[in-house]
Amino acid sequence: DAVQKGGFPHFMLKEIYEQPEVINRAIHSLSSDTLPRFLCDAKSITVVACGSSYHAGLIFRYLAESSCGIPVRVELGSEFKYCSVPLTDVIIGISQSGETADTLSAIHKGNCNNVQTVAVTNVLNSSITRYSDVTILMQAGPEISVAATKSFTAQLGVLLQVVNLLSGRISDETLSHAGVAIEKVLLLNMEDAVTLCARAQHIFYVGRGPFYPVMMEGALKMKEISYIHAESYAAGEIKHGPFSLLSSETPVVAICLPGPSYAVMLGNLKEMKARGTPIVAIGYGDDTELSELADIVIPLDEEQLYLQIVGATVILQMLSYYTASRLGREIDKPRNLAKSVTVE
Ligand code: G6P
Repeated sequence: DAVQKGGFPHFMLKEIYEQPEVINRAIHSLSSDTLPRFLCDAKSITVVACGSSYHAGLIFRYLAESSCGIPVRVELGSEFKYCSVPLTDVIIGISQSGETADTLSAIHKGNCNNVQTVAVTNVLNSSITRYSDVTILMQAGPEISVAATKSFTAQLGVLLQVVNLLSGRISDETLSHAGVAIEKVLLLNMEDAVTLCARAQHIFYVGRGPFYPVMMEGALKMKEISYIHAESYAAGEIKHGPFSLLSSETPVVAICLPGPSYAVMLGNLKEMKARGTPIVAIGYGDDTELSELADIVIPLDEEQLYLQIVGATVILQMLSYYTASRLGREIDKPRNLAKSVTVE
């Protein structure tokens, strides 16, 4: 076991550290020669997935719609069977294990309706590869920790490459810097943020645009392994209810990076601060306005949206990991959870 963990205390941390290499491999797992033709011709796409894979699908929606102009619908595998509006040209099923029953049944529904199906998976010859017309292997290598880390990042890598091949609008520089962006994040010290989170019973994770699903994934990771109730919210929705729960006991984790949502995020954070809420913000290291507002700023100095998404994802994985570690949780095998859910 110790040998397999390669000197790390848990598989989860080992897998977090594998990500610079994993994302580069995932990006290169697909080229213009191997991109399915029917995907290039698609007028609309549906993504179906569960858990972390669903969050990767939501991020894909933002990137594909803004770069390619293709409408993307993203559905939970478990809810897709209740959707009755017409299916799209293509269904992409995202599943690390390739065995999640609800995602498989969504692919099956596509097959029954003559929709072309693509599997994005980490496991060669898994069930989803047999059900789908085309498979894209994310090549993350085996993931042992129940909580997904490197497989999620690999999904982001594959989906980014899909957007790039469809739109040609992502620079080579961005693609080649993904691994480096993660390496920089791995050097960050999370101690103060961990101290703040580890004593909380409830944490809100807020973001806007593509950072909202990044926060959904961050909150899921925190719940899964630390057992702290972490809830993600679109930042603009916080005042439609959760405001009543904010207090000095309820930290907020936020992403506030320069970009289209920056000014309004700052405004939201000011409103939260006025309710006494401790704030952990992911933002630019030299952002004085943010550092005056936030109790802790975790620096992420990337300019490209995609690198911001990847960097913030890894920061939130580390925040969850070190918080769970501080609380002495059983990180690789959290109570009541399974790596792969094969019943509906
Ligand atoms: C389980 C795992 C999660 C995973 C989800 C979907 O709940 O614990 O980490 O995201 O299943 O799994 P899949 O293999 O379909 O990506």
